[in-house]
Amino acid sequence: MLLIGMEIETLETHSFHLCSCPYWAFAPAVVIYASKWYPRNMPERVASESSIAPPKARGLIVFAHPALERARVAPAMLRAVSPLPNFAVRDIYDLYPDMTIDVLAEQVALAVSDFVVLQFPLYWYSVPALLKEWLDLVWIPGWAYGKGGTVLMGKTLACAFSAGGAGNAYGPRGTNRFTIAELMRPWEQTAALCGMRWISPFVIHGAGDLDDAALGSESTRYGKWLQVQSAKAMTVAG
Ligand SMILES: Cc1cc2nc3c(=O)[nH]c(=O)nc-3n(C[C@H](O)[C@H](O)[C@H](O)COP(=O)(O)O)c2cc1C
Repeated sequence: MLLIGMEIETLETHSFHLCSCPYWAFAPAVVIYASKWYPRNMPERVASESSIAPPKARGLIVFAHPALERARVAPAMLRAVSPLPNFAVRDIYDLYPDMTIDVLAEQVALAVSDFVVLQFPLYWYSVPALLKEWLDLVWIPGWAYGKGGTVLMGKTLACAFSAGGAGNAYGPRGTNRFTIAELMRPWEQTAALCGMRWISPFVIHGAGDLDDAALGSESTRYGKWLQVQSAKAMTVAG
């Protein structure tokens, strides 16, 4: 996240002044430029493809938690992400405390990623408000979908979240009546509309009831899931 700000600043010193020009005039340049700096902390894709280790997708975690200071599960999940060199995390409540989203920075981050994970606590069977705002402002026609909207095509989209409800509360016989897959249908269709590959969400159930050991094993499971899905996303992205 910091990198994006720094490099866009650098771009401006090269006589591009994003603010004084039509916003979109330089978007392709930004995307091309960004693809050079983004893999700073990971091997170049060519290098990883020629090595013995299976290649991993460039992962982007778009993280949304409006009350991280009181959270217990989300920090544990983030700790599982931090050793993974091919994942960048954008904490949108931290980046945009007044909810003013930098659309271009978000689009650049998405454009240079193969595997996009939306990580959040489940709120009212859906996402926290800023993540919906992010979707509304960033995934726009002509960019994400519709005529000329091809930037997200071939990428993989997933949701990863914690839920207070137990696993068996989600289903036709449970309190919450619907399965997690059913509740995530809007995201699944969003992926389809944008030509993305959708994968089933990663869920930590019973978020309020986990002791330290259970939280540790759940976050380890998250780290492994990210690694496995990242390798799969790479084969799709080519
Ligand atoms: C406003 C709000 C709405 C919530 N809605 C749901 C819900 O629809 N289903 C559910 O299982 N848990 C729900 N929860 C519980 C949260 O998902 C749970 O507290 C969170 O996943 C715990 O993660 P954390 O420790 O990272 O905050 C809700 C909590 C809040 C504060």
